[in-house]
Amino acid sequence: MSDLKIAVVVGSTRPGRKGRAVAEWVLARAGGRPGARYELVDLLDFPLPLLDEPMSAKATGADGYTHDHTRAWAAKVAEYDGFVFVTPEYNHSLSGTLKNALDFLYEEWNNKAAAVVSYGAAGGVRAAEHLRGILSELQVAHVQQQLGFSAFTDFVDYRTPEAALAPTDIQRAFADTMFAQLETWAGALRSVRAAAATAAGPQDTERGDKRAEDTRRATPWAVMATFDVKEGCEEEWSRLVQDVIDEMRHEKTFISTSMCRRPDEPGKFLLFEVWADRAEFFATQVNREYRRPLMERLPELTRSPVVFDEWTEIRADHAVHVRR
Ligand SMILES: Cc1cc2nc3c(=O)[nH]c(=O)nc-3n(C[C@H](O)[C@H](O)[C@H](O)COP(=O)(O)O)c2cc1C
Repeated sequence: MSDLKIAVVVGSTRPGRKGRAVAEWVLARAGGRPGARYELVDLLDFPLPLLDEPMSAKATGADGYTHDHTRAWAAKVAEYDGFVFVTPEYNHSLSGTLKNALDFLYEEWNNKAAAVVSYGAAGGVRAAEHLRGILSELQVAHVQQQLGFSAFTDFVDYRTPEAALAPTDIQRAFADTMFAQLETWAGALRSVRAAAATAAGPQDTERGDKRAEDTRRATPWAVMATFDVKEGCEEEWSRLVQDVIDEMRHEKTFISTSMCRRPDEPGKFLLFEVWADRAEFFATQVNREYRRPLMERLPELTRSPVVFDEWTEIRADHAVHVRR
């Protein structure tokens, strides 16, 4: 099972809304897919006022948020690699609630993937088109396949509180295509996010905060660790190292890693980690709790002390290596 996380966002909040039923159908249809874990995110659970931040999220970055409700929403959105936005059509556009929730944030959306599910008297297609324009501005890659449900033909008991979605076979098949496209792009965009954390991307140009400056200045830096692993301990060593990799690749300053074995000497391994900022690595990363199990076991698992070597990266076309 992939560790990609995708949020199915319920984009309407009014009493009597049908959005929750649509989102629940989407969630159930996506359930059990090996390509990602899907979760419901209901905007009712993140009550945001009309945008009340003094500066735009694009201008300040997350450091500029002044309200707890913004920080709570940002933390939730930051958890996900991709989104299925479930939006009604209100007056030929998406819901104001969803537009407002999108406007609150910027970098938490950037370089992620999304799919659009709309519904309404006419399938919500105009809402979907407006939503796609907004997603482009937020640097969200929106996949081709979308779903549009008619209030007249795709629901059972639409006018009652028990209204449920009743899609056709074709719509079910389209949903599976949509999930597949979304998972592919959500996975690919992880490495884009890692690279963007170091490169001075256009998304940073309006931002004057120190953190962005520091990131721009930082030279990608690498540490190479060579291990001489005892016979019979290779499997445990490999598992512990991969547990570290699975955690560290979510770090903002992480760029890439490579794990290699010397072909003619079975116990000789190499771990190459590339990070955005050497100082931050030594101040923060080396002390991460998730490194502890490996560090504690190393004296038992290796024949000789680990050799660490520092390098400075010359090319910046990073690729992230992940365990599948
Ligand atoms: C304020 C409002 C405006 C609407 N405008 C449209 C519209 O322009 N086109 C359309 O197809 N349906 C329109 N509808 C119908 C909604 O798409 C439909 O009621 C849908 O169930 C609303 O989503 P919700 O139940 O999750 O709030 C509108 C509904 C509301 C409440």
